Amino acid sequence: MIDLTDRIIVLTGAAGILGRRYVSALAELGARVIALDLAAALAADATLAAQPNVHAYPVDLSDVGDITAVSRMIVETHGAPHGLVNNAASKGRDIGAFMLSGTEITPETWREVSAVNLDASFFLTREIGRSMVSAGRGSILFIGSIYGEMAPDPRIYEGSFYLGSQIGTPPVYSATKAAVGGLTRYLAALWGEHGVRVNCVSPGGVSSGQGGPFAEKYAARVPLRRMATPDDMVGPVAFLLSDAAAYITGQTLLVDGGLSIW
Ligand SMILES: NC(=O)c1ccc[n+]([C@@H]2O[C@H](COP(=O)([O-])OP(=O)(O)OC[C@H]3O[C@@H](n4cnc5c(N)ncnc54)[C@H](O)[C@@H]3O)[C@@H](O)[C@H]2O)c1
Repeated sequence: MIDLTDRIIVLTGAAGILGRRYVSALAELGARVIALDLAAALAADATLAAQPNVHAYPVDLSDVGDITAVSRMIVETHGAPHGLVNNAASKGRDIGAFMLSGTEITPETWREVSAVNLDASFFLTREIGRSMVSAGRGSILFIGSIYGEMAPDPRIYEGSFYLGSQIGTPPVYSATKAAVGGLTRYLAALWGEHGVRVNCVSPGGVSSGQGGPFAEKYAARVPLRRMATPDDMVGPVAFLLSDAAAYITGQTLLVDGGLSIW
C-alpha cells in the first residue's frame, strides 16, 4: 500500500545521516525526490543527486528569502509537491557550544538552531503548503525527536563523545522539537478541509558512531534494547506520506523502540 509512484516529495536535510536514507528509499518507492540541503553538504555527497528520480537543490534554510526563492522554483519547475519532509536540523556553527547540556547555551547557538529547526520548518511549510492547498492534496511531515516529548537523561552522557565533543542535548533542541508538535496540530486543523494532512515523526536516538558507553547506556533504557538505525525511520515516514495514511492527520508518531512508555 505504500506506493509513492510519481509523487513529488520535498525533503530537507537530504545530505544528513537520516536524510540520505530517506532520499534513496522514497525514490525507490517511485517518488520524484526534491532533495534540499546546504550547498556544501550537497557538494560533499556527489552520489545523492546522481540517483534516478532525485533532484538536488542548495538552500540555506536559515535565510527566509532563500526559502521563498527555492519554494517558488520548486513549484514552477515540478508543480505543487505531494509531500514535504522537514528533516533538516542545525547544530549551529560551533558543535562544542551546541553539545553543552544544561543552561550554558549562548544566544548565538540558540538562534542558529531555532532558525533551522523551528523557523525554517514553518516558513518552508507555509510556502509549499500553500501550493498543496491550491492543489487540494498533500502530506506534510515535521521531524521532531523523542527529546521533544521527554527530557534527555544527562546520566547517560558521562564519558561519551560525538564529533569530538562531550555528548549533550541543549535545551533549544528539546524546545524546537516540542514546538513542531504544536505546529503539526495547528496546521493540520487549518488545512484539513483542503485535503492537506500534517503529521510529525519523532525518532529516538539513532546509532551513528557515538563514542564511549553512550550507546550501551541508551540501549539499556529502551524496551527493544537497541538504538535506532536510519532504516527504522524509513517505514514510518513513507507510510505517513502515502495514501495508506489517508485518514491520519495532526498526529505525532514516536519511533523510539518503546523508550517513552516507561
Ligand atoms: N540522529 C538522531 O539520533 C535523531 C534523533 C531524533 C531526531 N532526529 C532528527 O532527525 C532529523 C535528521 O537527523 P540527522 O541525524 O540525519 O541529522 P544530520 O545532522 O545528519 O543532518 C541534518 C542536515 O540538515 C542540514 N542543515 C543544517 N542546517 C541547514 C541549513 N541552514 N539549511 C539547509 N540545510 C541545513 C545539514 O547540512 C544536514 O545535512 C533532524 O531533524 C533531527 O533532529 C535525529
